[in-house]
Amino acid sequence: MTKHLFIKTFGCQMNERDSEIMEQLLAQSGYIPVAEQIEADLVILNTCSIRAKAEQKFFSLLGSLRQQKKKQPGLRIAVAGCVAQQEGERIFERMPHVDIVIGTQQIWRLPELLQRLEQGKNKREIACGLDKHFVIPPFQKLLHNSPPASEPLEFRKFVTIMQGCDNYCAYCVVPNTRGREISRPVSDILEEVELLVQHGIKEITLLGQNVNSYGSTNPVAEVPVSFAELLKMTAAVPGVQRLRFTTSNPQDLSTELMRCFHELPNLCPHFHLPVQAGSNAVLKRMHRKYTRELYLEKVAELRSFCPDIALSTDVIVGFPGETEADFSQTMNLLETVRFHGSFSFKYSDRPNTRSAAFPDKVDEQVKGERLEQFQARQDEISLERNREFLGKSVEVMVEGHSESGVQGRSGSNHIVHFAGQEQLQPGDLVMVTINHAGQHSLKGEL
Ligand code: 5AD
Ligand code: SF4
Repeated sequence: MTKHLFIKTFGCQMNERDSEIMEQLLAQSGYIPVAEQIEADLVILNTCSIRAKAEQKFFSLLGSLRQQKKKQPGLRIAVAGCVAQQEGERIFERMPHVDIVIGTQQIWRLPELLQRLEQGKNKREIACGLDKHFVIPPFQKLLHNSPPASEPLEFRKFVTIMQGCDNYCAYCVVPNTRGREISRPVSDILEEVELLVQHGIKEITLLGQNVNSYGSTNPVAEVPVSFAELLKMTAAVPGVQRLRFTTSNPQDLSTELMRCFHELPNLCPHFHLPVQAGSNAVLKRMHRKYTRELYLEKVAELRSFCPDIALSTDVIVGFPGETEADFSQTMNLLETVRFHGSFSFKYSDRPNTRSAAFPDKVDEQVKGERLEQFQARQDEISLERNREFLGKSVEVMVEGHSESGVQGRSGSNHIVHFAGQEQLQPGDLVMVTINHAGQHSLKGEL
């Protein structure tokens, strides 16, 4: 019998990819995705714990599902992802209407847990093991014969190359929620990329918490392969028109990787390089293993290989002990690098992180003011940066049609709008001359 599945994904691209995998696995057990939670027989909340706000959003949605379950007792509710990993059994105590709690390394077992529930073996099921010897399953083989997922394959996909993180930044839950750093074998990754290209995928984004240290923590091939080498192998797969990756840690950014931006024509000229703070004192307390000077050197070297590369970053304001002088160093770094864009956040305490126990917490209001100041200046700089595109011709991959014409994305990761022909399909590459620059997007003509 066909059953209906609704997955709500919070957080990062890693979670998006995991949601896709769960959807494909469950397709083999007869589940088809639906657009509305209210139509579902099974609701999966794939959660994120990175900041307090993300976690609160999930708990309020989960709370609201209690009513739905009262009206629809057969409804199954599963909690996956980083909050599931972090909270485990406590989720059942707080939210007794949850049926399954499944951790970040256990999503493969979801069909089995559902089956056990149906057989009435237990009232609830939980699988939250984290093993440092975990092997990421070769899921392209696993899913090879599965019925097609909900949507026809699109034109771009994420490919997980590693999972977990060994850096232990003082503020971050990821080492607790995703476990030790584990790399996927090169052959699995390339096989997945080839399969995706055969299905019409044109853009690949290699995904990992810290892609720069790919292959360094556990053997992925008889001869160790660096991330730069993996990138070159992926770029060489026929049909990969665009290649991106995320996320990098500045401390591990090698010259070999930077050179790829010069050498690989299909590697998009965009680099997301989280800096977090501009003050060395704060970076040290964050346990980031680089200084502001090293960061600036890396940026300069990167630009020497690819002068037009678009840079984006992540910033945390109000880390414990951050003074006005520290914060002005972050503002100063923004002026120096002139990032094309950034994601900035107020620091929040997270469970089992070192900084949660640090003294000198910054006042919420001060954090809010600093965030506003940073974001206001970033907006101005983004606009100035976007104006640098005026008159230039850029390659755009079509994403879809909107009321005002066609929407696509440049290699630099800017949204580009242009008047275009109906026959343009998502994934097509066209050249667009930019004639208008807004804060968040560009406009141009074919
Ligand atoms: N508080 C605020 N922001 C955080 N981030 C990670 N942990 C925290 C925290 N405790 C931010 C970092 C990271 C991004 C994904 O989320 O900037 O790069
Ligand atoms: Fe959120 Fe980090 Fe987990 Fe991604 S890995 S879901 S960002 S906590």
